[in-house]
Amino acid sequence: MLDIQSHVSLKPYNTFGIDAKARYWVEIDAEEQLSTLFQLTEFLTVPKLILGGGSNVLFTRDFEGLAIKIAIQGITLVREDDAHVYVKAGAGVNWHQFVLFCVRNGYAGLENLSLIPGTTGAAPMQNIGAYGVEIEQVFDQLEAVDVQTGEIRVFTHADCRFGYRESVFKHEAKGRYIISSVTLRLNKKPVFHTEYGAIRETLASMGVSDDQLSIKVISEAVIRIRRSKLPDPAEIGNAGSFFKNPEISKDDYERLKASYPTLPGYPTGDQTVKVPAGWLIEQCGWKGKRIGNAGVHAKQALVLVNYGGATGADILNVARSVQQAVEEKFGIRLNPEVNII
Ligand code: FAD
Ligand code: EPU
Repeated sequence: MLDIQSHVSLKPYNTFGIDAKARYWVEIDAEEQLSTLFQLTEFLTVPKLILGGGSNVLFTRDFEGLAIKIAIQGITLVREDDAHVYVKAGAGVNWHQFVLFCVRNGYAGLENLSLIPGTTGAAPMQNIGAYGVEIEQVFDQLEAVDVQTGEIRVFTHADCRFGYRESVFKHEAKGRYIISSVTLRLNKKPVFHTEYGAIRETLASMGVSDDQLSIKVISEAVIRIRRSKLPDPAEIGNAGSFFKNPEISKDDYERLKASYPTLPGYPTGDQTVKVPAGWLIEQCGWKGKRIGNAGVHAKQALVLVNYGGATGADILNVARSVQQAVEEKFGIRLNPEVNII
């Protein structure tokens, strides 16, 4: 049975805590409900908004269509070979719970992606990444329902066209498919990624020596680091990094570095250098700045926050001011990572 409701507040369904409304609202708990939904002729032409945990969206207006919250559960071990296990999760499975499930069972590959909010179905959307790992490194395939035909389509790794915070679902396939499940290929024998950021120092502070490394302690270290600098959406509204880290040419990087010798930069191996947007924003004096109820987080300048009661327009206003400041000072245009609706 589908329970389609009208005039529903989206406030509990987005981590920015923006009080926008959806004209229609439905929660989908099983893949079969999607085919039922696409048989309802009165909704065929109504615009649709797909939602997981709402941790990467900014609502700037009410949504005059049908918001579909994907809550499909279930984790299954599909198959295994000598080196890998293939694990399939329903799109509505909470991502961090999925990571913890894999860590508990000794399935390696997701530990660096611990504590990222949201659902498993949304994870391939922007090829979630953290602490030196992106989901594409362990991605096998996903199943998605075509919102125009109701047909199920399988997307392989190549079909998804993953990039840094990118996939086909942010471009040609945008709004066209509802991801219903994701299958990952995890390793029986772990490969530890400890070189990024503060992982090594954190492991040392936890008293973990090299011979005690495990996916469990790496997961715990990542959780500690994240808790120390990222605001908890349950306490203060946010959607993680608001902008992507810009990738600029090596020449532009060298030119800027001559004027700003402390400018950090990470070569991408692709003739470009990735520059931390948080650094650029901080240099412009925006870290910790507040305009009304919206602002820039005091511990992480890449995170925009809702101190309570901000509208999407208030957040967007801060975002535009930040973009303008960075562009004027450094000649770099910051592009949003968050999906603005
Ligand atoms: P939503 O916000 O609900 O949706 C995001 C987009 O995906 C929307 O365009 C939506 O239409 C679409 N979508 C959602 N579900 C589906 C589906 N089943 N089928 C098709 N389309 C769908 N991200 C990182 O990559 N790395 C991080 O380290 C990170 N840290 C974060 C920290 C905090 C505190 C917060 C709040 C966010 C962080 N994020 C991070 C961003 C966010 O957690 C991820 O982008 C996450 O994958 C979003 O999942 P979601 O279910 O909340 O998606
Ligand atoms: N920095 C500053 N000031 C700040 C913040 C950052 O100077 O206020 C500089 C520092 O030089 C720091 C560097 O930026 O060393 C990198 O900062 P951090 O390690 O916090 O990571 P980030 O580049 O800001 C990215 C992702 C995060 C991910 C972390 C860890 C993007 C857009 N963001 O942030 O992802 O968790 O790395 O891997 O790539 C998200 O996507 O929502 C998200 C939180």
